[in-house]
Amino acid sequence: MAHKKTILSGIQPSGSPTLGNYVGALRNWSLLQQEDYECFYCVVNLHAITVKQDPEALRRRTMDTVALLLACGINPSTSTLFVQSHVTEHAELTWVLNCYTYMGELNRMTQFKDKSVKHADNINAGLYTYPVLMASDILLYQSHLVPVGADQKQHLEIARDIAIRFNNAHGDAFVIPDGYIPKAGGRVMSLQDPSQKMSKSDPNPNGYIAIMDDPADILKKFKRAVTDSEGSIHFDPQAKPGVSNLLAIYSVFANMTVPEAEAHFAGKGYGHLKTETAEAVIADLAPLQQTYNKLLAEEGYLREVIAKGAAQARARAAQTLADVYHKVGLDV
Ligand code: TRP
Repeated sequence: MAHKKTILSGIQPSGSPTLGNYVGALRNWSLLQQEDYECFYCVVNLHAITVKQDPEALRRRTMDTVALLLACGINPSTSTLFVQSHVTEHAELTWVLNCYTYMGELNRMTQFKDKSVKHADNINAGLYTYPVLMASDILLYQSHLVPVGADQKQHLEIARDIAIRFNNAHGDAFVIPDGYIPKAGGRVMSLQDPSQKMSKSDPNPNGYIAIMDDPADILKKFKRAVTDSEGSIHFDPQAKPGVSNLLAIYSVFANMTVPEAEAHFAGKGYGHLKTETAEAVIADLAPLQQTYNKLLAEEGYLREVIAKGAAQARARAAQTLADVYHKVGLDV
């Protein structure tokens, strides 16, 4: 077994993520590479088809997401960057783990309930067993840490429960993973309704910043952000959700603690808070956007990266699957 701890995370190949996805997940994926971890980062296209997809658009967005991860700073020579469907072990382990997961557990998943309402015309079995596929992603690599946004906590819990159940039945096959939920800025809220998480499905586009928004749009959206009528800048998410959200975003991008950010804005008005936050975000995203646009034109390179990633991922995943097949008695 490797000495370094293993990190794994996954991202759906869905268009352009928001500032919330970036702060809550992607930015940390790149930062974690500098520590003493072996990182596996996966574009989860098998998860994507739990809702209806256009095949050509899915192919394109999968490659776009690979480019995005590279632009966010994932280094393909130290991390394994791969596409889920390239490593067939994910689907194979999912079948086995489906047989170790109770319907009662899956019935409790809030994301399934939410998505069933949103996609009432397509409540398919894949949407239902989505958490089992996610558990397979994690457990195949013997992952110790799983960086995810707060909304994925329940899925992580069920992955742990499945792993513990399997280990108890057959002897240790899996490392029991822990979540890695970011210290700061774990939840970026809507700029228009700061009681809600920032989301791309917000009907009001001023509520969210997309990673690929151009600087003029980012500035405009921050200027329109909802605040309050008090006029003083301090962090109090209950009483001042809008201002607190801006302070939290500012502190992440200015590399400050929240108290440092409060001190920085002492005596200044909301206009300053909005403009400086926008400028800090723009300065961070501009080089990322540039790299992304350059990489989109380098399909050959992107394909090389994911071919190598798939080979590396498969090497690890195959070992785990072989052990599971043996333990269950499938290796006749
Ligand atoms: N369900 C996660 C999300 O929607 C994506 C995901 C799939 C994932 N497999 C994973 C995250 C494994 C972490 C680990 O954000």
